Amino acid sequence: MTAYPSRQVRRVAALLCVALHAAISGAWAEQPEPARQQELLQLLRQDCGSCHGMQLTGGLGPALTVAAVQHKSDRYLTTTILDGRPQQAMPAWRGILNQDDAAWLVTQLKTGLIDD
Ligand code: HEC
Repeated sequence: MTAYPSRQVRRVAALLCVALHAAISGAWAEQPEPARQQELLQLLRQDCGSCHGMQLTGGLGPALTVAAVQHKSDRYLTTTILDGRPQQAMPAWRGILNQDDAAWLVTQLKTGLIDD
């Protein structure tokens, strides 16, 4: 018998680390850098606000308040932001926004950080 963990125990431990890392990185999308977050909030207030209302309570586009978006899925909302609605007035923001940017904006909309 050896005092060190057996090869099998070490292998299981290594696999657990890999699985844990995959679970964590999959669950939380990369957060944009703080400077980028400021840019995104500015874009939300100005560009998105020009159609969705300065307080995001609706205008040409529907309201994006917490009450309006909280029951809509993250995937539905991020896809709408990235790809737009070709038949409607909602432009596609892919190219200006990447997946992480869009996901971060959706989190802001759902948690109401931007509508006071
Ligand atoms: C030129 C006007 C315009 C601009 C600018 C605009 N939107 Fe929209 N948006 C719309 C319209 C119109 C709709 C509704 C489309 C429809 O009827 O299917 C919409 C729909 C949406 C939806 C889906 C809402 C729902 O309840 O289904 C989201 C989310 C959204 N916009 C986010 C954004 C974000 C974020 C920005 C800024 C990055 C933005 N929009 C900029 C016009 C705009």
